[in-house]
Amino acid sequence: MSYRWLQPWVVIFGIWVGSVGVAQSLPPQPVIASAHPLATQAGYTILQQGGNAFDAAVAVAAALAVVEPYASGIGGGGFWLLHEAQYNKDLVIDGREVAPMAASADMFLDEAGEPIAGMSLYGPKAAGIPGTPAALVYITEKYGQLTLAENLAPAIELARNGFAVGEDYRNALQQGDKYQRLQQQFPAAAEIFVPQGKLPAVGQVIVQSDLANTLTLLAEQGRRGFYAGTLAQQLVDAVQAQGGLWTLADLADYQLKIREPLVGQYGSIKIVTTPLPSAGGVGILTMLNVLQGFDLANVTEVERNHLIIEAMRLAFWDRSRYLGDADFVDVPMNRLLSAEHAAQLREHIKLDQATPSAQLSVAPMDTPKGHSTSHFSIIDTQGNRVGATLSINYFFGSGVVPPGTGVLLNNHMDDFAMKAGQANVYQLVGHALNEIAPGKRPLSSMAPTFAITEDRIAVIGTPGGSRIPTMILLALLAFADDQLPAYWVSLPRYHHQYLPDVVEYEPDAFSEWQQNELQAMGYVLKPLGRRYGNMQATLWDKVNQRVYAASDERRDLFL
Ligand code: DON
Repeated sequence: MSYRWLQPWVVIFGIWVGSVGVAQSLPPQPVIASAHPLATQAGYTILQQGGNAFDAAVAVAAALAVVEPYASGIGGGGFWLLHEAQYNKDLVIDGREVAPMAASADMFLDEAGEPIAGMSLYGPKAAGIPGTPAALVYITEKYGQLTLAENLAPAIELARNGFAVGEDYRNALQQGDKYQRLQQQFPAAAEIFVPQGKLPAVGQVIVQSDLANTLTLLAEQGRRGFYAGTLAQQLVDAVQAQGGLWTLADLADYQLKIREPLVGQYGSIKIVTTPLPSAGGVGILTMLNVLQGFDLANVTEVERNHLIIEAMRLAFWDRSRYLGDADFVDVPMNRLLSAEHAAQLREHIKLDQATPSAQLSVAPMDTPKGHSTSHFSIIDTQGNRVGATLSINYFFGSGVVPPGTGVLLNNHMDDFAMKAGQANVYQLVGHALNEIAPGKRPLSSMAPTFAITEDRIAVIGTPGGSRIPTMILLALLAFADDQLPAYWVSLPRYHHQYLPDVVEYEPDAFSEWQQNELQAMGYVLKPLGRRYGNMQATLWDKVNQRVYAASDERRDLFL
């Protein structure tokens, strides 16, 4: 029997049970999905010690900093989507990195105005001022039930005693030229991550004593353990000695931003997601708003693929025209999320053929002017939830580890636009609204998201650079089809981002017949020949009183 027959019963059942108390119920047990079993374990340990989802989130994030040093860490930043059950309140902690005060729009350009190869990706100029340490402290103090020392203890132990290398670690190190580059250009990083100059074997233990000391300092002193005093001095000295721009004031002045999440509706599903400076959440809502105008349940498979791809294209078109850090530039967010705007975007969709991106003009404001990442999802038994996507950007970030600190610095300055029309590492085309300015946050794609119906609550997110919003879109559509997290995280993926005007796809995403049909509609297909992303999803099914967690078996090997 098709799901279409089943769905009304599920809905009716949900409403009926809801009226007798589903809304008041609590999750039967806590649930955590993260990219590494040791990080998930750290979270459960904290829950067992009496911590809530917020404490567990701090423990998971800190443990990921140790066991996935190539992906996220205290040298980076990210977005935390929180639901406080007690007040039925959703909020976002924006711990995105900021550009140092000496940064400028043309800092990565040569005299001819051309980007200097690699400068926004490697070395200290690539690094923004980190936000993750501030977020760990703030979340513990404001929302946690345990102390910072308790929440950081599992990570400190993993750093001090070491953790066993897995396949993901080896893969990250073999990404592109990482392994050689660290050894040739970044000896302080190589000493830690490539011990004895050899690719570590699976099972080999990596000890990070400096990082253990740094985390201990944070545990003992809170924010000033990282952003002031000896550690801040070590960070600034090393960055400046290698030609970077950080100052002690940049660190001392770092501000977390507490933001209202973006909220949207797709059918009966309430979507709560990440606001600017992430372009991810508005992208997800734009795609859903566009798709809302079609009956996806009553079209052929190819028509469904076509409509979804066009929605992806249009959302990324908007990104290239309208989005930047809204603390610095004007963004018409209400208009972008309106039904009228979605209807206008839909006018660009032809039902039987692809709309070339070249036909979608770039707005005048877009004129020239001037695996890293890890997601985890948690639900606790009080009904609190956390979805956090944290990153140092590209695998092993900027490569810079200020000696004695164990902190691997991010390369998130690359998420700014170097120059209008210039693509970054994710082939996202730059535009003036996202140009570098002192204290500004670079646009992101990271988008921890809640999907909420009367009877189900999901926490979803993934790494994957510009592909993050389209991965989450596909997962949300599967949620809408009543599938479970194991399905959301494993379903084959495809992606379009306006420019380049190609459909990238995983090996199993389209049958040969579908590929032929899509090509006949005018799509340029780009098989990736591999899978991407690392989705971590949790679900609380209130009707059946069950919780689910699903971890993607993929690790994002990006290029
Ligand atoms: O903020 C962003 O959108 C990117 N820096 C995220 C990087 C990422 O997801 C890399 N993952 N493989």
